Amino acid sequence: MSKEVTILDIQRAKAEGRKLVMVTAYDYPFGLMADQAGVDLVLVGDSLGMVVMGLEGTIEVTMEHMIHHIKAVVRGCKSPLVIGDMPFMSYNISVREAIHNAGRLMKEGGCDGIKLEGGVDFAPTIEAIVKAGIPVQGHIGLTPQTASALGGFKMQGKDAAAARKIIDDAVALEQAGVFSIVLEAVPAPLGKLVAGAVKVPIIGIGAGPDVDGQVLVTYDMIGLFDRFVPKFVKQYAQIRNIILEAMKAYKTEVLEAAFPAPEHSFKMPEETLAQLKAMIKE
Ligand code: KIV
Repeated sequence: MSKEVTILDIQRAKAEGRKLVMVTAYDYPFGLMADQAGVDLVLVGDSLGMVVMGLEGTIEVTMEHMIHHIKAVVRGCKSPLVIGDMPFMSYNISVREAIHNAGRLMKEGGCDGIKLEGGVDFAPTIEAIVKAGIPVQGHIGLTPQTASALGGFKMQGKDAAAARKIIDDAVALEQAGVFSIVLEAVPAPLGKLVAGAVKVPIIGIGAGPDVDGQVLVTYDMIGLFDRFVPKFVKQYAQIRNIILEAMKAYKTEVLEAAFPAPEHSFKMPEETLAQLKAMIKE
């Protein structure tokens, strides 16, 4: 399905000084709401492992999980580009396998591009996927799939050498042909320097205001995920409380026989009921 937003629009936004807005979605209703909210990009992130599946991290997320969720989101998104996240070990073993799996997310899931985590070391893989005709979004800074090797879910680029490495990663990814880069959990001044070092849009998550766009995990932003709230998240709603209160009210009404009320019940003509009762007696 051709979208109102194109990869070209995303690439042009930076030169035009227009900020990009990206959210995550994992199913049809959230895809539809993202579409109606008018965002540019919808990421079916492997964060679904944590926020939807209740896993500790993203390592256990599979290609099948991703394809299942991408398909649902795509059905809701007429306008925004849908980006499918490559799960852990779907692009790390060989370039050939990476192209194959990126192609599966596009062909079977129906997304418009893919995202994968990694810097300089992954530039050759990214270049090969792009050459195969698949739009790639990079992801550097804090990369959740390798969070344990980075010392946990912590801010990255703390000292000058580590910060310099992140700038080098962005430059390498740009040269490899990414159409944009997600930059996660770095000091705001570093976010600004990374955005200034490349022409492709830098979409920040915990990278400060001086980047080219923002992304948040929607379940964090609406207060639906209860385990923790990262420092860089602003909660625009407390949806979890609303849902919880609704469930409790429903439970009370069922126990008290207040639900279903007559307006929630189907009627049967008196005559049909009388006939039925007579039949049962027979
Ligand atoms: O999986 C995800 O939701 C992500 C975001 C944190 C950008 O990668």
